[in-house]
Amino acid sequence: MNAFRQDYSKGSLEKAALMDNPYNQFEKWFNEVVESGAPEPNAVFLSTVNEQAQPSCRTVLIKEFNDNGFIFYTNYESKKASDISVNPSVSLLFFWHSLQRQVRIEGKAFSISPEKSDAYFKTRSRSSQIGANISPQSNVIESREWLENAYQNFDQNQDQIDRPVFWGGYTVLPHYFEFWQGRTSRLHDRFIYSLNNKGAWTIKRLAP
Ligand SMILES: Cc1cc2nc3c(=O)[nH]c(=O)nc-3n(C[C@H](O)[C@H](O)[C@H](O)COP(=O)(O)O)c2cc1C
Repeated sequence: MNAFRQDYSKGSLEKAALMDNPYNQFEKWFNEVVESGAPEPNAVFLSTVNEQAQPSCRTVLIKEFNDNGFIFYTNYESKKASDISVNPSVSLLFFWHSLQRQVRIEGKAFSISPEKSDAYFKTRSRSSQIGANISPQSNVIESREWLENAYQNFDQNQDQIDRPVFWGGYTVLPHYFEFWQGRTSRLHDRFIYSLNNKGAWTIKRLAP
């Protein structure tokens, strides 16, 4: 494994250069990773914790972000949804290898309005709309054949496809951000933004 070792020297992060607001800082870094040509820069690791305090992590795609949160879409009967229903505290982790950067977010997940989920669902391809309808996400199924038959049956019998009630978006509203920039000799730059009791963001540097 030592053969994979890399030194990080693509950038640095100084307090003076940070935006006051973490959403603006996130947007700046997001634009830079898009420009770098990295594939799926909106892919994020979403961690949830269930009733027994067991953490679980999976990738989702962020479809929108602003100061109302980070929105992803999924099945409301999936494992992640079941975890969120008992414990809305979640964590998001973006790892942007092309720029040697990581953004870590902690916050709470809330389901978004049905109207907003409808609007997004309409923009999806027919095949994705069918998939959302027929896949009992996170449940055991008997075979690949079962899945493909369900897809074909749905496709043949539906003209216009509506969003199923069990599918929609969540927004993650952060109270904590960490921006990590890899540096040489493992002396990485880390800055955290946390919300103080007046609702303002405070910025601190952490040791790597
Ligand atoms: C690159 C990538 C993007 C994904 N995007 C989504 C997504 O936006 N929504 C989703 O429900 N699952 C997405 N998945 C699948 C999830 O990682 C996961 O397998 C699925 O949501 C079931 O998770 P759960 O059983 O923990 O609920 C994606 C997987 C990958 C690898």
